[in-house]
Formats: sequence, C-alpha cells, structure tokens
Amino acid sequence: MPQPHIFHGRMTGWRAIVTGAGTLGDGVGTGKAIATLFAAEGAKVALFDLDEARARTTLELINSMKGDACIFTGNVADAQDAKRMTGEALEWLGGLDTLVNNIGIGAGAGQLHVVAPDDIDRVLSVNLGTVINMCREAMPALLAGNGKSIVNISSVAGILAHGNSAYGPSKAAVIQLTAELAVMYGRDGIRANCVAPGHIMTPMVEAYVKGEGRRVRSAIAPIGIEGDAWDIAQAALFLAGSESRFITGITLPVDGGVTVVGPMAAYERVVQEAPAQA
Ligand SMILES: NC(=O)c1ccc[n+]([C@@H]2O[C@H](COP(=O)([O-])OP(=O)(O)OC[C@H]3O[C@@H](n4cnc5c(N)ncnc54)[C@H](O)[C@@H]3O)[C@@H](O)[C@H]2O)c1
Repeated sequence: MPQPHIFHGRMTGWRAIVTGAGTLGDGVGTGKAIATLFAAEGAKVALFDLDEARARTTLELINSMKGDACIFTGNVADAQDAKRMTGEALEWLGGLDTLVNNIGIGAGAGQLHVVAPDDIDRVLSVNLGTVINMCREAMPALLAGNGKSIVNISSVAGILAHGNSAYGPSKAAVIQLTAELAVMYGRDGIRANCVAPGHIMTPMVEAYVKGEGRRVRSAIAPIGIEGDAWDIAQAALFLAGSESRFITGITLPVDGGVTVVGPMAAYERVVQEAPAQA
C-alpha cells in the first residue's frame, strides 16, 4: 500500500467520480486503488458501487489517510440509477473534474454458440453500458469543470483475442469509445484516455486464477511478474491529471509487456520457467 510521504498533492482541488470503487472480497481491486490514490493526492472522490459494504472498505482506507470521499450506491449499468447517483454525487462534489469508468465483469466463457445469451448481454451492458451511462450523465459537469478528463479501464483482452465471446469485444468497444470521445469533445477541452490492464492480481481474479495459472500469467510477461491494482491506479492518475494535458484518445497498456511479446518468446519463457516434472 502506498505510504503518505510519497504523495504530492497532484489532485488538490480536484473532484472525481470513480465507478466500481469497492472491491470484491479482501484486498485491493483497481477501483479501490484508483479512488484511494486520487484521494491521497488531494481529490474529493465520489465512490460509485453496487455494493455498499464493498465501497465502505475503500471509504475506510481513504478516511484512514485523512482523504475525502463519499459512497453512492446503485447499478451503474442501469441508466436511471446512473443518473440518480451522478446527480447526488455532483451535489456533494460541487462540480466534476475527472471521471474514471472502472467497472468491468467477466462472464460467458466458452464458445459463442454455447454461451447463454443473457451472459453476453450482461457483460456488454455492464462493461460498455456503464461507460456510456456515466459519460452521458457526467458530461455537462465535466464540461463545466476544471480538469476535463475521462479515464476508462479496458483490458489487454480488448487488444488481443483470448477466445471469449463477450469480455474481449466489450473491452475493445471501450477502447474505441474512448477514441470517439476524444474526437467528439476535444474542442471542448475534454481529454479521454484508456488504461488496458494486463495480468493484474486483484481479489476478483484471485477467486479463479490459482497455482500454475498464476505462474503462467507471470512468466508470459517480458518482465516476469503480475501487476497489482496500484500499478493501474498510477496510470489512471497520470492520464486523469494535468501532467498528461497533451495526451488524448490513447490506450495505455499496463501489462508488463504482454501486448508486445511475440508468441515464441512467450512460449519459451513459460516452458523454460516451468517447475521440473516429478
Ligand atoms: N484484474 C485484472 O487482472 C484485470 C485485467 C484487465 C482488466 N481489468 C479491468 O479492471 C476493472 C476492475 O477490475 P477489478 O478486478 O479490479 O475489480 P474491482 O475490485 O475494481 O471491483 C469492481 C467493483 O465494481 C462493482 N460493480 C460491478 N458491477 C457494477 C455495476 N453495474 N454498478 C456499480 N458497481 C459495480 C463491484 O461491486 C466491485 O466492487 C474492470 O473493468 C476489469 O475488467 C482487470
């Protein structure tokens, strides 16, 4: 966990919304890390989550660092909930400088013809729909704000295929929507950028990636390690803040090099580093 002495007030005076700001289970997911880092850097942060208890762990962490945050509960994939939550948050924040769309779920693994249509609809409506809902509801306030930035959390699965009917396509759509936003609102001073996390160990992932799966996730990356939620938070902080004022429409992979490694190199790393067979 970052320590207070490394903070420099990079977001002093900023008002932020972070969606999916809670964490499933113990530990730190990306929404929690982003909200906490922004608050530690001086931002007032609205924590959006479906689940009040999950968001509360983020609020407690922020409060322990003397940061300023407040929870807004509801389903951001539902247009009416997103509108209500944004209205309430804007009243508390008194304006908006940056919006981070972090919500994402995985479901519907398997070949397309056997995946339940409801699973595909759910992944698309959550992973893409939450970004659309939030940009629609927050845009008037962002246009009137000072920071004027949007950061969307996609995935390397939106860049490279891994055989999933809905997750990859939904994350590719988030990348394209980010570029569209950059073009649509560039003349209004709004910047929109995307972070594409690679193999990040968060509580959500910990639930289904174990043992050998974790070793392979690490070995496949040129730098040979998994990332954590704070790696994503640092990228989001840079892209949200004014240090990236000349950067818009991009997708920044934060992946230890997974998106640049060639298939043979990845294969050799995974095999060479395999534990000896008994
Ligand atoms: N963890 C990884 O390895 C990894 C890799 C690539 C991309 N990502 C992306 O990073 C983002 C965060 O992943 P994470 O594992 O850190 O999760 P997380 O720990 O940030 O948790 C997500 C939170 O979102 C909330 N949420 C889910 N659906 C919601 C909805 N409809 N409305 C409101 N809140 C909702 C959940 O209650 C949960 O608290 C996702 O977009 C994910 O796709 C993660």
